Amino acid sequence: MQAQPPVMPGEFFYGNMRQFNRDTLNFLYDSRGYGDFVKFFFGPFPVYIVNHPDVAHEVMVAKAESFYKSTVTKQAMKSTVGDGLFTNDGDSWKRQRKLAQPAFHTKRIAAYADVMTHYASQLIANWRDAATLDMEREMTALTMQIVGKTLFDAEISEEDATGSAVRTALRSIDKRFNQLIPMPEWLPLRENRELKAAQKHLDTVIQAFIDDRRKTGEDRGDLLSMLLLAQDETHGGMSDQQLRDEVMTIFGAGHETTSGALTWALCLLAQHPDIAANLHAEIDSVIGDELPTYADLARLPWTDMIMKEAMRLYPPAWGVTREAIAPVSIHNYPLRQGANLVINIIGIHRDKRFFENPEAFIPERFSAENEKNIPKYAYLPFGAGPRICIGNSFAMMEARLLLATIAQKFTLSLAPGQVVAPERVFTLRPKYGMKMVAHVRQSVPHRVQEAVVS
Ligand code: HEM
Repeated sequence: MQAQPPVMPGEFFYGNMRQFNRDTLNFLYDSRGYGDFVKFFFGPFPVYIVNHPDVAHEVMVAKAESFYKSTVTKQAMKSTVGDGLFTNDGDSWKRQRKLAQPAFHTKRIAAYADVMTHYASQLIANWRDAATLDMEREMTALTMQIVGKTLFDAEISEEDATGSAVRTALRSIDKRFNQLIPMPEWLPLRENRELKAAQKHLDTVIQAFIDDRRKTGEDRGDLLSMLLLAQDETHGGMSDQQLRDEVMTIFGAGHETTSGALTWALCLLAQHPDIAANLHAEIDSVIGDELPTYADLARLPWTDMIMKEAMRLYPPAWGVTREAIAPVSIHNYPLRQGANLVINIIGIHRDKRFFENPEAFIPERFSAENEKNIPKYAYLPFGAGPRICIGNSFAMMEARLLLATIAQKFTLSLAPGQVVAPERVFTLRPKYGMKMVAHVRQSVPHRVQEAVVS
């Protein structure tokens, strides 16, 4: 066993902290030049970066039992999502994951498809030809409504205020990641006041879901009912606080990432009209002018390949963190208990060793025949192992249905002067927003009837 992995050169006292904070994405890309498992310093604290699929497998799957979510992540998120599924660990996490899992089974999520296309068609009914749209906001409002309705049977009324509260909370979480010693949230700073107001707004929204359901006491068979019933059954089990944390976590995780994935996919299509044309041709021939259904998805390979490739280039979760809960060896290096790791998802996704011409948008990488050649664990938009995204299938179904519904009616172009660059704001977001111009498509032919084989 070797003593320690390659160390990235840094500054006195700060180590690599300032580089990391100034431009996280380029820092992560650069780290690959030092090795598959490298070390850097955040001030005095060592952090390890995972730059290879095999090492990602070792951390997230093979030795998953040796790791928890990192304390830094938990502390940064605590005041907003508490101990919900994303930040929870150990036995409590196992119990909660088991409770929530049935709401995400394939059969159940298939039933959400119509809600998804209903909200999408309602949203785009307001888009006018040649109108300039703030696509991040549009997609956030849409995915927020969908997660509210499907999992909590609730209508979100103030999408814009709620969307902006989520953004404020995420900015604050992100900022706390950057600080060696995070500013206490009780300090009377403007940003703390804004965070408190945002959290208050979100708490009101979440509490309304819970109160509303308690009032009727009805079992609607959705996630919220499952959580409430489990709370009643397990004395001393899930507290009110735990329930609130779960609902807040799923509400946040369940819309923010998917809206990002869709925004990036629409942006990439605007930059690649030839690929957009393939998508439009597929939609016209398979679904015509009807709303796409769950059953249609199997016949929309371009829609699927485009979403997957968009999430390769712009993974909403650009990286995930872990902390060793006991001494463990990774990539043959001994790590101490408490060691912090970042799995460099975006860096692996854009590594030429695993993806030819990695910076190019080539959806065909994910065709049925090509996809099997992608090295295992080189494509990790939803993570891997026991902590893999619980909403993985939900998100993929939603993203494809919404993309198909939008592309059926509109072609989108980037607004003049729109600069495209990703930035880390907890998740991967467009640094300069995403203004797009809507162009109504000419009427599309009716759904082509499937050939009847006699
Ligand atoms: C494109 C959309 C999405 C992406 C890219 C994404 C990505 C991820 C990733 C990478 C993780 C693992 C984090 C880690 O290992 O530390 C995760 C966890 C999680 N995601 Fe997602 N997610 C998406 C959509 C959703 C949706 C739709 C939901 C719920 C409706 C959801 C709920 C969660 C929850 C609760 C966890 C924590 C699971 C656990 O630790 O047991 N996500 N997500």
